[in-house]
Amino acid sequence: MLHEKIAQYAAEIKQFAPQSQEDAEAFRLKFLVAKGVIRNLFEEFKSVSPEQKRTLGKDLNELKLAAELKYKAMQEQFAASQATQKVNTDDLTLPGEGFVIGSRHPLSLVRKEIVEIFKKLGFVVAEGPEIEDDWHNFTALNFPPEHPARDMQDTFFIKKQDGNDIALRTHTSSVQVRMMENGQPPFRAIMPGRVYRNEAISARAHCFFHQVEGLYVDENVSFADLKQTLYFFVQELFGDGTKVRFRPSYFPFTEPSAEMDISCTICKGKGCAMCKGSGWVEILGCGMVDPNVLENCGVDPGKYSGYAFGMGIERVTNLKYEIKDLRLFSENDVRFLRQFETELI
Ligand code: PHE
Repeated sequence: MLHEKIAQYAAEIKQFAPQSQEDAEAFRLKFLVAKGVIRNLFEEFKSVSPEQKRTLGKDLNELKLAAELKYKAMQEQFAASQATQKVNTDDLTLPGEGFVIGSRHPLSLVRKEIVEIFKKLGFVVAEGPEIEDDWHNFTALNFPPEHPARDMQDTFFIKKQDGNDIALRTHTSSVQVRMMENGQPPFRAIMPGRVYRNEAISARAHCFFHQVEGLYVDENVSFADLKQTLYFFVQELFGDGTKVRFRPSYFPFTEPSAEMDISCTICKGKGCAMCKGSGWVEILGCGMVDPNVLENCGVDPGKYSGYAFGMGIERVTNLKYEIKDLRLFSENDVRFLRQFETELI
């Protein structure tokens, strides 16, 4: 009798053709649960004679396996069809979602522009460390110890036990020193980089900012070369017709020294808040490299002369994009940064 039952269920399992997930569940409840058909058959199996056990046991195990495989196949069938159904319900005609890519920081954009302009004139890019020693940041640049000119730039010093104090560089002029110490004239390079000054953070001052300084040392370099180079730079960066003017100034490392103003790019010289009504804005310091500096760096001042200049990238960026608060550059507010997304270069 058990034999017939097994044969009958085997046929049923074989023919079972589920139409839905519900049919599959009904199959499981009928055959595979603790009180299901198969377990009951195994119960019955316990009481058959030992001779019958041999063949029936095999049949019964096969039945169990067949039911399990059948159920597994059903699960796969419905899972797969569910997935296809899901894909099919997606509207393939919808436009794709754009993905957001980053943009360059305005200071990087402007630095790159400045570098490109000077490259056209044959300047190479030089870099140096942000943590400097006194020699490269001050002494070699003709700031004698205790000289009040050291106070022109509020410096972050770190006192070291061995007395060799170090500092965060206050300007990239330190890179000029390194360059001259380690090479032979002619030198024609610009030095972009971050510099640090011990100032309270406000809209108009920050404890760090970025500079591009430049150096040209060769035989017979004159102030006229300096003026022409800077004039070319200003026309390229701010457009034809931007006026420049030089005012005498003082830096320990240049003699004579000057500051250069350009006609205000915002009001075109009429007077506005950016230029405080004067029509002019200062953008850089410059001058002829002081012979003492050349000598300190191992360059013969009898044979060579040179000019140097230095500007803040923030200042130039403020003028180009009319940015009025320096803090915006380092706050990383995406509402600010996103405005430069179209300027990917
Ligand atoms: N090093 C000066 C500064 O940081 C800028 C400068 C460079 C001036 C070269 C003259 C010549 O303010």
